[in-house]
Amino acid sequence: MDTIPNLHGGPPVVAQAIVELKGVHKRHGLGLSGVQALHDIDLTLAQGEMVAICGPSGSGKTSLLNIIGMLDTASEGSVVIGRLLVSQMPDQARTDLRSDMIGFVFQSFSLIPVMTAHENVLLPLMLRGHLDEAALEAAEQRAADLLSRLGLATQMRHYPARLDPSQSQRVAIARALVTHPRLVVADEPTSRLDNGCVRLVMDLFARFQYEHGTGFVISTRDQRQFSRVNRTLQLNEGRLSATPTEARRRPLRVQV
Ligand SMILES: Nc1ncnc2c1ncn2[C@@H]1O[C@H](COP(=O)(O)OP(=O)(O)O)[C@@H](O)[C@H]1O
Ligand SMILES: [Mg+2]
Repeated sequence: MDTIPNLHGGPPVVAQAIVELKGVHKRHGLGLSGVQALHDIDLTLAQGEMVAICGPSGSGKTSLLNIIGMLDTASEGSVVIGRLLVSQMPDQARTDLRSDMIGFVFQSFSLIPVMTAHENVLLPLMLRGHLDEAALEAAEQRAADLLSRLGLATQMRHYPARLDPSQSQRVAIARALVTHPRLVVADEPTSRLDNGCVRLVMDLFARFQYEHGTGFVISTRDQRQFSRVNRTLQLNEGRLSATPTEARRRPLRVQV
């Protein structure tokens, strides 16, 4: 449990933790050739909080986000996501939980080349099972709305090969938001964006945070994001520490 200042002037809001990592280590590979990517990570994120993890290339950002996003498992330590101990869960249960509650923005976008931008964004909703005609129409509209908000109204029918890196990155972001997940895990989501697009993305993230209580874990080397998050943590050589901005933790805009 975590308490958050109430912007409306009342008592602090008690928020459930959506992510709780304790003593997490990650080793890639075995023996002498193995790499220790994460050392003894403790991290708690309240529902609806937006946290930036910053650090240079090779500091372990992707390793950490892949564990929080349940794409990878910790070598040691406990990982609780949405109050479930995922570090002890069978693979299939973890996959199901991931598709239920997490939207993931891949550092390399990972768009499906044979699908249009619109179809790529629609995909997570289609994978949830059969949609009747009305549900399909609503899903298509939701995907189109997200692409429009990200400045991609005229690229919806384009295949990824026709998209530039900024457009591809914004499609990957729309795809992570389309299910209205409780938690968005975004790996350097603004690395290929100009200032105008960074603003569009951060405005959209803030809107999700406010309207849906979405939590965000964002890895970044991009100073332009720091003023827009509640808290910034620093990762160096696999070790996590608070930055001076964490002490000045910005209040959440939580609806009460
Ligand atoms: N699959 C892997 N196999 C071996 N080493 C890896 C693997 N993934 C990452 N690493 C190593 O782990 C360290 C952290 O990498 P990464 O998590 O990708 O950092 P960042 O995202 O901050 O650049 C680096 O030394 C990297 O070379
Ligand atoms: Mg990375």
